[in-house]
Amino acid sequence: MNIEGIISVSYIIATILFILALGGLSNQETARRGNWYGIIGMAIALVATILGVVTHNYVPLFVALLIGGTIGLFAARRVQMTQMPELVAILHSLVGLAAVAVGFANFMDPDRLTHYLGVELTIHDIETYLGILIGAVTFSGSVIAFGKLSGRMSGSPLTLPGRHFLNLALLIAAIWFAYQFVVQSAAGGGMQPLIIMTVIALVFGIHMVMAIGGADMPVVVSMLNSYSGWAASATGFMLGNDLLIVTGALVGSSGAILSYIMCRAMNRKFLSVIAGGFGTGGGAAAAASGEDQGEVQPIDAEETAALLGNAKEVMIIPGYGMAVAQAQHIVYEITKTLRAKGVNVRFGIHPVAGRMPGHMNVLLAEAKVPYDIVFEMDEVNDDFPKVDVSVVIGANDIVNPSALTDPDGPIGGMPVLECWKGEVSIVLKRSMATGYAGVQNPLFFLDNTRMLFGDAGDTLDKVFKAL
Ligand code: TAP
Repeated sequence: MNIEGIISVSYIIATILFILALGGLSNQETARRGNWYGIIGMAIALVATILGVVTHNYVPLFVALLIGGTIGLFAARRVQMTQMPELVAILHSLVGLAAVAVGFANFMDPDRLTHYLGVELTIHDIETYLGILIGAVTFSGSVIAFGKLSGRMSGSPLTLPGRHFLNLALLIAAIWFAYQFVVQSAAGGGMQPLIIMTVIALVFGIHMVMAIGGADMPVVVSMLNSYSGWAASATGFMLGNDLLIVTGALVGSSGAILSYIMCRAMNRKFLSVIAGGFGTGGGAAAAASGEDQGEVQPIDAEETAALLGNAKEVMIIPGYGMAVAQAQHIVYEITKTLRAKGVNVRFGIHPVAGRMPGHMNVLLAEAKVPYDIVFEMDEVNDDFPKVDVSVVIGANDIVNPSALTDPDGPIGGMPVLECWKGEVSIVLKRSMATGYAGVQNPLFFLDNTRMLFGDAGDTLDKVFKAL
């Protein structure tokens, strides 16, 4: 078999492994195996490309691989579980940047006009244009998402007057410059419209993500994930690399499916999220957060332990604060103790709990909580009237009743875990601060809610000792 045959076979094997990886990642039990398929597939793809496709310029390639690989290794080792979404966002931005760089390099290739003639040149130019466009939107959008997720920027939506017209104008301009680019490129020019479009795309990416309110960020994360896939796919077209096309399409479509799932989970319409401005009424709601909503009823660790020990049905609702406090291990110790006493303990997981899809499931799996007591929101939401004690660990927005009572608020319409329908809810948090969406939570002030203040790790330690 010649070298091209070997490359093709390697690419096909890598593609199959990527599909198996996605299949594996869809289930907690097979996720580890899925990850391995992905790692092996990527290793095969890299070796085949480095040894087969690249024929010269090995030195800069290896230097770049070494620098990039080292940065990636250090970043991944040092990142805290709570910073994972920001890392993912900034890595998406790099995919976008790479697509822009490859696009410009492709355009400036001196052989371009002799390689491609007539309609082939037009097609190639459109590929280049689209690759840079998607790449630039992904790049600037991901940088803004990184800023919002890491708290460097405010999470509230920026709603410029006439923002939909602005978006429309940017879109029309991008189409107009595409036409200009294709015409000028055939005559040997085209750099100017390409640069103007890149600036437009960068502005569009910034504006699009700025306009999305805090509570809708999960959709943005998965949407940028999808865009980064399409950017990679467009790069594959530019370079004529089949594996990149297929891999990009896999990432692009799985990200799109995830965005759809997220939207459904949050009761949002995808287009409305993208158009932005959700939670515009949130300014008022967030401002109201300082209003006096009544008294809260604190509880201590001993009383919590007594309530738990006497319960028959316990529902644990973890949220972002459990990740911050790294309380998943002690939660499981408490769970084991309660189960040994005959208490039925279950976990109720909201689809957007934490800061990334599956965040809570990953933490609970790490602590070795058995999968058969971990349930999705829809599976347990009707059971709350039969629950004796709900333990809300560092969760806030996902148990906020105002999502159901205030349809115009930032989280209005989002389904939430309705723990207040149970006998008593114990909320573990450090202060009366709001959650990610910046809305005050009426749950804290209800008669059947008790507040256990402090870092969830510390307070749960005390509860465990008292048990
Ligand atoms: P949040 O609403 O952000 O609430 C977390 C709560 O944990 C805070 O109120 C905080 O209160 C408490 N907390 C923080 N550190 C703690 C600690 N060490 N010990 C005890 N409590 C602690 O989280 P949630 O309920 O999980 O909801 C998720 C939110 O994030 C939603 O609005 C969602 O839209 C958004 N979001 C989700 C994703 C994905 S994909 N899951 C991505 C981006 C954004 P104190 O400061 O008072 O302790």
